[in-house]
Amino acid sequence: MAKTFYITTPIYYPSDKLHIGHSYCTVATDTMARYKRLRGYDVKFLTGTDEHGQKIERIANAQGVTPKEYVDKIVAGVKDLWKALDISYDQFIRTTDDYHVASVQKIFKQLYDQGDIYKSEYEGWYCTPCESFYTDTQLVDGKCPDCGREVERLKEESYFFRLSKYQDRLIKHIEEHPEFIQPQSRQNEMLNNFLRPGLEDLCVSRTTFKWGIPVTFDDKHIVYVWVDALSNYITALGYGSDDDSQFKKYWPADVHVVGKEIVRFHSIIWPAMLMALNLPLPKQVFGHGWLIIDGGKISKSKGNVVDPKFLVDRYGVDAIRYFLLREIAFGQDGNFTNEALIQRINSDLANDLGNLVSRTVGMIDKYFGGKLPADREATEFDASLTETAASVTAKVDELLDKMLFTDALTEIWTLIRRANKYVDETQPWILAKDETQKAKLANALYNLAEAIRIVSILIQPFMPRSPKKIWEQLGINDEAVLTWDSAKVWGSLPAEIVIKKGDVIFPRIDMKKELAELEAAMKEAQAASVTNQMKAAEESAEELAKEAVPEISIDDFDKVCLKVGTVVACEKMKGSKKLLKSQIKIGNETRQILSGIAPKYTPEDMVGKKVVVLTNLPPRKMMGEESNGMILVAEDENGELSIVSVDKSDFADGSSIS
Ligand code: MSP
Repeated sequence: MAKTFYITTPIYYPSDKLHIGHSYCTVATDTMARYKRLRGYDVKFLTGTDEHGQKIERIANAQGVTPKEYVDKIVAGVKDLWKALDISYDQFIRTTDDYHVASVQKIFKQLYDQGDIYKSEYEGWYCTPCESFYTDTQLVDGKCPDCGREVERLKEESYFFRLSKYQDRLIKHIEEHPEFIQPQSRQNEMLNNFLRPGLEDLCVSRTTFKWGIPVTFDDKHIVYVWVDALSNYITALGYGSDDDSQFKKYWPADVHVVGKEIVRFHSIIWPAMLMALNLPLPKQVFGHGWLIIDGGKISKSKGNVVDPKFLVDRYGVDAIRYFLLREIAFGQDGNFTNEALIQRINSDLANDLGNLVSRTVGMIDKYFGGKLPADREATEFDASLTETAASVTAKVDELLDKMLFTDALTEIWTLIRRANKYVDETQPWILAKDETQKAKLANALYNLAEAIRIVSILIQPFMPRSPKKIWEQLGINDEAVLTWDSAKVWGSLPAEIVIKKGDVIFPRIDMKKELAELEAAMKEAQAASVTNQMKAAEESAEELAKEAVPEISIDDFDKVCLKVGTVVACEKMKGSKKLLKSQIKIGNETRQILSGIAPKYTPEDMVGKKVVVLTNLPPRKMMGEESNGMILVAEDENGELSIVSVDKSDFADGSSIS
């Protein structure tokens, strides 16, 4: 039975269009999956989308669609992009898939039942407009990192995962398995920056938004991101379902390929969860670097998002895949520039590889009418070429096993360049002039075709399309001489080959002209996408305007209990810039209500005021204080506030409003 190889990409947030940086991660993973398939492994390659969370909920709301409708549309685009990049995934998981949801609920319940998840309170910096909590380190200048507004210290009931319990076992595992976190530098970072200083338990549920997997035994809560997202690697295999045969077959994963910023989640939280579930740990987490533009991370706000589909349409999928893995050492950050891309296409693909193929095919055509004779005579230059081929084929395996894509491509290009040198050494055009040298000429061209055959096999994991074009031109259709192992056997090509001249595989590009055109085209594409986005935003705003105030029945309104109240006492909440704590007399009772009006009203303004109170809200705790209801406040478009009141200042509190 073939050995299995289970490899995964992170599951992507469908909150936006994926860019060239996301494609980098997936192309690398795909290259590894293709390589292992060629080596005869039974490969399972998983990718997908991480669809829950407040951000998605908010975007969908703003667009006037349900979160599911929103993600469905984006996911279709993600799949489309992977198609354009020839990503050969075996399964695409969506965290909204029923099987995933059911399995995550089981996992959460099991961890709760066995005491690894417990209920407590989460304390953090809360931004009211964004409805989000942030940690000290996430704040920017003490303000909300998303909207830049003031935040305040709040508490929320949450479930926690006992991450701290697994700290020692994790350290031991990492120390005993140096291959677990790769590259090595990331392993040191995990140990020194996170594990050794000590782990805190992890908040794994939320009550402030709804778009997530419900906790089955406490319906106020939804499972918060990482338990949901990380579990995908096993739920995809049927873990926790009636059919876990794939789980039995493929788990533990051979490698989770992830970007450097999420290594921590994959090499600390995920293994701890697996330890708690009593499951084996993945064999490796590989943290690659980032593709950066002009020295900075790719981001929509910087306006430097490069659309991979645009590039694929313009240069072809193989050129883009080659560039990504050749230019940026896997594991390190690397810069993306249009110049570097065109330079690589011209020098490596058009000059080195493309030229070698067209020269060889052209000479077989010219000197032998397209059919290479079997009668050959060796030359003194042959040994060096065959030795290079032998060493390159051996090294490529070693390098790819370690996911050193850049080095593997550099090796393959050593053979390509050696073959080009062989052309200069053997000088076929001179041999062709002398009838007595025909066997030497045939030998030189055979060796070149053979070197190309080997190269075409080795580039397959990186470039899914070009090898076939090369085989067509060289007239190779015997699969036995195209297997991965056959690259190691020099002379596998049949003695007689019949070539078929074809188009240039990688046309040369006029750098200056192209750069100018490219810049203009990219701007146009970006403008089109901005226009589209604006159009979509306008449309959704219209939709929203239509739908923003849905009609309700009088029965719905009857459920709302509004009463007149008098503010009898009011003070600022300690430690909060926003909250006022008011005691409000409503008929016979006095209620405490917290409201975020401190930027506009002082406690003195409030005392004595007649207010309108929504009284039938469930009590809520903020910063350790209970709030029982809500004071109605009007807000204009500039953020000015005005307390809603009744027009008779002596009107009795406790009066109901209908
Ligand atoms: N949803 C989480 C992953 C959960 S996995 C259980 C997530 N999604 S993401 O869409 O933000 O990022 C997915 C991957 O894309 C990450 O590995 C991230 O590093 C990678 N990249 C995003 N931008 C990138 C670059 N500019 N360059 C390289 N990779 C980058 O994180």
